[in-house]
This record gives sequence, structure tokens and C-alpha cells, in this order.
Amino acid sequence: MKVAQHTWSQRSWQVFPGGSLGEYNLPPDLSIVLTHGKGSRVYDTTGREYIDLTMGWGSVILGHAHERIVTAVTRQAALGSNFSYVSRPTLELAEELLRAVPCAEKVRFCASGTEATMYCVRLARAFTGREKIVKFEGAYHGANEFGTLSLFPQHLSDFPLPNPTSAGIPKAVCDSVLIAPYNDLETTSRIIDEYASDIAAVIVEPLHRCTPPQKGFLEGLRQITAARNILLIFDEVVTGFRLAYGGAQEYYGVIPDLAALGKGLGGGYPVGAVVGRADILDLCTEARLGQPDYVWFASSLGGNPITATAALATLAELRQPGTYQRFFALGERLRSGFRAILAELGITAQVLGDGPLCALAFTGQPVSDYRTAFQADQDRARRFKLGLFQNGIFLNPMSTKFYLSLAHSDKDIEQILRIGRKVLQEMGR
Ligand SMILES: Cc1ncc(COP(=O)(O)O)c(C=O)c1O
Repeated sequence: MKVAQHTWSQRSWQVFPGGSLGEYNLPPDLSIVLTHGKGSRVYDTTGREYIDLTMGWGSVILGHAHERIVTAVTRQAALGSNFSYVSRPTLELAEELLRAVPCAEKVRFCASGTEATMYCVRLARAFTGREKIVKFEGAYHGANEFGTLSLFPQHLSDFPLPNPTSAGIPKAVCDSVLIAPYNDLETTSRIIDEYASDIAAVIVEPLHRCTPPQKGFLEGLRQITAARNILLIFDEVVTGFRLAYGGAQEYYGVIPDLAALGKGLGGGYPVGAVVGRADILDLCTEARLGQPDYVWFASSLGGNPITATAALATLAELRQPGTYQRFFALGERLRSGFRAILAELGITAQVLGDGPLCALAFTGQPVSDYRTAFQADQDRARRFKLGLFQNGIFLNPMSTKFYLSLAHSDKDIEQILRIGRKVLQEMGR
């Protein structure tokens, strides 16, 4: 009997829902299977090369297969990959986090950003003895139960009612989350005031997706929360080590009580960490088991020496002089390039982002939160991203941002803009 021949992408659709590992939502004819990556490029099973604008969703901050990381990890692999206990690289990494991140007095590791924000919220609930958390509409804090509430709401509820983006979220979780509009301090403080005695924490992406905070917004959150003994959590899974070595808290000069780290910290290896005030993190000291505010926080792979070694190599590169000037110059080149092309072609869109992050929103209105972003033309955005993909730019068409890495060159940016112009021109006004 003849065995049917399937392409790699057909095989992928047979075993994975949607033919992917999650998100992307690529049509079958555009689906690919990757073989390897180097620097700013990835390659598929047909040998086609793409400029990567996803970079492992921002985790591969130095570029694919960075030599310093490959060498360090290879050496560590021969010494053992996991002990679920403190090893030398894990300790050295924790010490570096304390030096780098302003709010960090203590650290506990996990293996993803999803876990890190989940633990932040659990710690906040235990510390304050309160249940509710405030989350901003459109913010993503990972795939945990609260992280998918009002993530991509397709109908807009009155604040502070949450709107589950995923099925399967218990009502009790919805009842414990209050949704507020990002960059709207007045409405947010009204919500906080109304529920103050029930609120454990406000969790915020300091740079909300790709939308920067307006002057005074983060400072206002810090002030309101501190005055009501509510904890402020920064989700720095994206911004950590990306907007500055000390993350958004260094960049914007606002220090939270707790911060979730992930993505770029691991240089492409699975990582998550909670850093923050010692009096809060110490709640998970195991000798406290049985006390009412004891917090369970443990992970088989959190703090494993392979990830820690990759992270130490990543941070050593990021500490090199000129790193952040380079990140910002690259990002600005991409953003100003897109602005010039849009103006030249007479296409209405907003170019968002900061540092090495960029996004386009096809709307004439300035974008300051989820609702202003929601008014943008989503069909056009999808056509634009699929067009880039067809023309050799690897990206996640469902993503809210393009990620640049230190491996991207000025030539890469020129090439991205050349392809971007072609796609926008074909799409027309
Ligand atoms: C701001 C933010 N927090 C948390 C997460 C979840 O991180 P992970 O995918 O490592 O679970 C993400 C992922 O995109 C994110 O963007």
C-alpha cells in the first residue's frame, strides 16, 4: 500500500490545533515548519529564509543561536540540566536580578511569564488578605485564569466588569477581577476607591502592549495603591531588560511592590521570575507551611541551571555599553520608517511602540488604550501582517507588536521597510 506523502505543514495541521503551538492563526497555505534560526533570521523546511520579527515572542532578545549563549549552555548541559534546587548559576542569576531590578529584594523562579504573574497575584492576595485584583482592559498577563479576562474583548462591557476572552474560566475568577481602562487615571481611581477594601493589587503592563503610559499614569497608580495598602504589580515579562537594563521601573522611574519577569531574561530558554519586596516574597518560605498567609510557590524547572546559564550570558551581553542606545535606535528607525511610508502613501495608521518594539494600528485616532486600539481596522492589520509574512518576514499575525533583537541590523530594518512599503502599496488606502 502506498503511504500518502504529506508536506511538513500538512503534518503540522494533523497534530496541532490550528497547525501551530498557539496564536498565529496562519492559513494552511502560509503555514510552515521551521528548521533553525541564526541571528535575526529563521529558516523553514523548504530552505526559505525569513527576517524574524517575532523572535520567540521577544524571548530571543540577543538573536537566534547567539554564540555566547550556545557556548555557555553547551558547557552547562554536560554538568546537569536540572536539580530543582539552588545551583551556582541560579544563585548568581538571582544576585544579578537584585542588582539590576529596582524593586527586587528577593527572587523566586518559575518557568514562564504566565506562572510569574499568577504567583504575583497569589502573593498579593495572601499579603493583603484581600481577593480582588485590578487588571487593565486589553492587557496580557499570560494564559493563567485572570490573564485571559478582557484580553481581546469583542464586545465592550461597562468597567469594571470582566469579559472572558477564553472559555473555561470559573465565575469565581471573573468575580475577583476588576477591569479598568489603561491611561485613564480618573476612572481607574474611581474603581479602586469603590472597591478599595477588597483589592489586593493592581497589575499593569507598564508599557501596555505597545502603548506607552501617559505622563503621570504610572506615578498616579503608585500613589493611589500605596495610599490604600494595595500592592502594585508590574508585569515586566516584555519590558524587563528591554526598555532598560532595570526594565520599565527604571525607565519610567516608578517602583512597584512586585514584578513578574520572563521572556528576554532567559535569552530564549524557558524562564519566569517574581521579584520584589522581601516581606512579600518571604510568605513562600516553606517553614511557614500551615500559617494562614503561607504561599505555595514551587516549580520543577524554575531556576534550572541551563536557563540560569543562558540568562547570565544574556544579561552579560545586555550590560555591554551601548546596548540600550542600539535597541532604541533600531526601534526608532523602524517606527519612523513606517511613519514616512504611511505619509507617502496617504494611508491612515498609528505607529506605536518604544525601545525595540513597534506596532501599526490602522486608525486615524491616537491609541491610548484597548478601546482606541479596538477601533482600528483589524482586517487591514491582518492583511498587512499576512502580506509581510508572504514576502519573507516571519511574524505572529495575531500579535500586538513586532519584536526587534540585538541581532537585527540597519540593513534588516531597511529590508523590512522595503517589504512593508510594497505590502502597504498593494493594499492601497
Ligand atoms: C506582558 C506579558 N506577560 C506575561 C506573558 C506570558 O508569558 P509566557 O508566554 O512566558 O507564559 C506574556 C506573553 O506574551 C506577556 O506579553
